[in-house]
Amino acid sequence: MTFDSVSWLEQARALIGPAHVLSEAGGDDVSAHTRDWRGKFQGRALAVLRPGSTAEVQALVRLAARSGVALVPQGGNTGLCGASVPTADGLQAVLQLGRLNRVREIDAENNTATVEAGCILQTLQEQAAAAGRLFPLSLGAEGSCQIGGNIATNAGGVQVLRYGNMRELVLGLEVVLPDGECLDLLRGLRKDNTGYDLKQLFIGAEGTLGIITAATVKLFAAPGAQAVAFAGVSSIAQAVRLLGALRGHLGERFTAFELISGPAVALVRQYFPETPAPLSGDWPWYVLMEAADGGSDEVLREALQTALMACLEDGCLEDVALAGNLAQAQTLWTLRENITHAQQLDGSNIKHDVSLPISRIAGFVEQMLAQLPQAFAGARPIVYGHLGDGNLHFNVSAPPGVAPDAWQRQTEAVNQLLHDAVVALRGSISAEHGIGQLKRDEMALYKTAAELAVMRRIKQALDPQGLMNPGKVL
Ligand code: FAD
Ligand code: MLT
Ligand code: ZN
Repeated sequence: MTFDSVSWLEQARALIGPAHVLSEAGGDDVSAHTRDWRGKFQGRALAVLRPGSTAEVQALVRLAARSGVALVPQGGNTGLCGASVPTADGLQAVLQLGRLNRVREIDAENNTATVEAGCILQTLQEQAAAAGRLFPLSLGAEGSCQIGGNIATNAGGVQVLRYGNMRELVLGLEVVLPDGECLDLLRGLRKDNTGYDLKQLFIGAEGTLGIITAATVKLFAAPGAQAVAFAGVSSIAQAVRLLGALRGHLGERFTAFELISGPAVALVRQYFPETPAPLSGDWPWYVLMEAADGGSDEVLREALQTALMACLEDGCLEDVALAGNLAQAQTLWTLRENITHAQQLDGSNIKHDVSLPISRIAGFVEQMLAQLPQAFAGARPIVYGHLGDGNLHFNVSAPPGVAPDAWQRQTEAVNQLLHDAVVALRGSISAEHGIGQLKRDEMALYKTAAELAVMRRIKQALDPQGLMNPGKVL
């Protein structure tokens, strides 16, 4: 039997309303949903479906299951591994969750929020703040990424050091399973040992096991005070010593510790010339750090300054500047968040997102900085990331004069050099961005046969027709 796309689109329109079914065939511009944020993966969609409720998601999933149409769940489409866009054959439908965007409840006493999957991360942060609470997940794409996408990627970001990544922030989920049934796991409990913890399956699954429609997440007391500093260090080993020392000085108040290489700072200042030099001297490495607590800015700033002076005396840093107010703190954070954009403007780079035991990071980076130029003459490493979590973005920009396509063709070889070393040190080839299409084949090289077999069994058990974001992860 041939597939009748016209009739399929009619059925979808009948379920969620014609205005919410977009298609190229219907003359709609769907380009924002078929190309990934980096412009690395270009797909085509049978349709972009925009349901407005969990019941509508269920109806669409049932339609897809009856007709054998694969669904690609999509949030803000800010993912960096090609997981949120359809394949090029035009046979998959994008299920865009943006209309499910309500914050259903903020339970201030329980310190939880129940929020729909399409809610933009920044909106949840703002609503939590209005209730005197903090939702701590924070990342450069927070103005457009959505909670469902954050959960499906187990997003990390810049506050993981203190609050953990998305998995640690999720207490409950509502998920539409591949057969259309709704699994209601929306509990706001911090303790619950009643059998398998099913929600964990969907966190970080990149939409391959079901559609997340809502979540109950943890909130925290809103910090009254914030203190930010920028330090210059002469090596990563010194930055690691600084991390250990500050843990001791700041304890629970320590919220962020981001490593930024000298070339990464230079790149941001090249593409965003309004960026001031963070320190008077130049250093090979820098650290952006933050502390927060419920007291006053002045007292916290003083505590951070005292800690940093002790670190200077102990040889854990070379130079440091403390942000004197919120605007200065924001300027430093903007420098950090603009690295991704500067690299995008700079042209072709091969992105990495690795994690290692913190004790092994300095050795790994030194080894790579020595080996890369030998293997790829002129390649420019742009290294930065969440050193406090053992997670580095060891990106490699094209040598001057090498065309983007030619550099991208080196991806496999560059990845092999880096990832073999990472795995030999018992690290991970993806700490936060995920597998998607980008690292699917590579993941299969590094996971054991037993790990892959269990993953396939779980996929088969939940999605026997293989209609949930096929071609991603596995
Ligand atoms: P999408 O890109 O739309 O989707 C991502 C994955 O989730 C796909 O597999 C998709 O199918 C699935 N998905 C989406 N919604 C659902 C749902 N409701 N149910 C089931 N599956 C779903 N990531 C970090 O971890 N840390 C960072 O610091 C960070 N910084 C970034 C900075 C910039 C400038 C950019 C562009 C990206 C950054 N990212 C970062 C990557 C990205 O923002 C995160 O992966 C984010 O969590 C993706 O959310 P999204 O809503 O855009 O999801
Ligand atoms: C970051 O830490 O800035 C993000 O993970 C995005 C990126 O690596 O580009
Ligand atoms: Zn990151």
